[in-house]
Amino acid sequence: MGERIVLVGAQWGDEGKGKVIDILTENVQYVVRYQGGNNAGHTVVIGDKKYVLHLIPSGILHDGRICVIGHGVVIDPKALIEEIELLKSQGINVDDNLKVSDKAHIIFPYHQKLDELRETKKKGKIGTTKKGIGPCYADKVSRVGIRMADLYDKDYFRKKLEINIEEKNTIFKDLYGFKGFSADDIFNDYLKYADNLKKYVCDTVMLLNEAYKKDRSILFEGAQGTFLDVDYGTYPYVTSSNSTAGGACIGAGIGPSRIDMVVGVVKAYTTRVGEGPFPTEFGDDLMEKIRQKGGEFGATTGRARRCGWFDSVLVKNSVDVNGIDKVIITKLDVLDELDTINICTSYTYKNKQYQNIPGDPGFLEKCKPVYEEHPGWKSDTSQVTSYEELPINARKYLDRIKKLIGTEIMLVSVGKSRKQTFMYNNAKH
Ligand code: IMP
Repeated sequence: MGERIVLVGAQWGDEGKGKVIDILTENVQYVVRYQGGNNAGHTVVIGDKKYVLHLIPSGILHDGRICVIGHGVVIDPKALIEEIELLKSQGINVDDNLKVSDKAHIIFPYHQKLDELRETKKKGKIGTTKKGIGPCYADKVSRVGIRMADLYDKDYFRKKLEINIEEKNTIFKDLYGFKGFSADDIFNDYLKYADNLKKYVCDTVMLLNEAYKKDRSILFEGAQGTFLDVDYGTYPYVTSSNSTAGGACIGAGIGPSRIDMVVGVVKAYTTRVGEGPFPTEFGDDLMEKIRQKGGEFGATTGRARRCGWFDSVLVKNSVDVNGIDKVIITKLDVLDELDTINICTSYTYKNKQYQNIPGDPGFLEKCKPVYEEHPGWKSDTSQVTSYEELPINARKYLDRIKKLIGTEIMLVSVGKSRKQTFMYNNAKH
């Protein structure tokens, strides 16, 4: 029987979802992106080839899987065309397998410029990817956005574009002293992009619900992570979409009763990119060590990621808000050389202990993490192929995480390649 699985990042993104999706795709027929845009970057290593995907689901690397970009995604058509061309040049069959929602909102150059100007000129920057994600979602909820299908009705598109440009150019000139954009240039460029993408555009909601009715397996892949969710995350240091599991229903158009399982991807430590609070962040020495060993540099922007200890408070909350049934632990091998390893088990703030994250502004910046110290295993786990082969201290570390977050561990990943993954077999412990 086909299953409908939602896969989410349980921390601040970059948990290694690309690799996990690639593995799970073996058993599914459809893979769906439901939120975010080309701010995301999924790295997948197959044999000696490395693929970095930003908009297209990594399922595209498996021929015969239908890969859907749902209406909850914001699409930069130029970036999408570049990604398609790159994949095609690597021999990937995109034309038969990619489907793009006719209702997805479009990113325009004025969105990117606004994102960039806000980040460079405003106090209290977010540390965005400057891809125009926030301004595009803002237009969507302000009901002035332009959707994929609009591009195929020239008069309608032109009218909407002119209204948008008139408003945006006033903001550019008055607030930022920037000359603004020409409607003609954008109109002509975007008609070309629309023409190029036409063969992929369709009603993906109907497509996915028909697939459900035929009992097909569908994997919904979340981009970013739970604490970057615009509603639940560490606001305002978040992205502008719902990266939690519920976002799959909204952004792909599939009802909650049609989802069978939610899987969370969890890094064996914690990372975050951009600004915002991070209670378990390392000091300089350990930061550099783990960053280098874990290759913690953004797949989209190349920015160095901030690194810290595993925070079980965050992940336990993530299990609840997403309804996570099972987790996959990634990058365990990155901790191989450490003498001792900390796990954050609660926070203290104003003499009180917390297992949750209250909304008070400043809580996560000012709270103090409470740590449990675990002995390291001091040996190479990157070639390990089963739970039983792991050093005893690594097993204890995983078992403790499992207990603290209150959910099952499904798989453990100890390196970039598909082979460096094994089952955490529940029957034995
Ligand atoms: P935006 O999504 O570009 O608006 O950026 C908002 C915040 O989300 C910033 O802190 C980014 O660093 C972060 N962010 C966006 N996409 C990703 C991702 O794929 N991984 C990790 N962080 C991300």
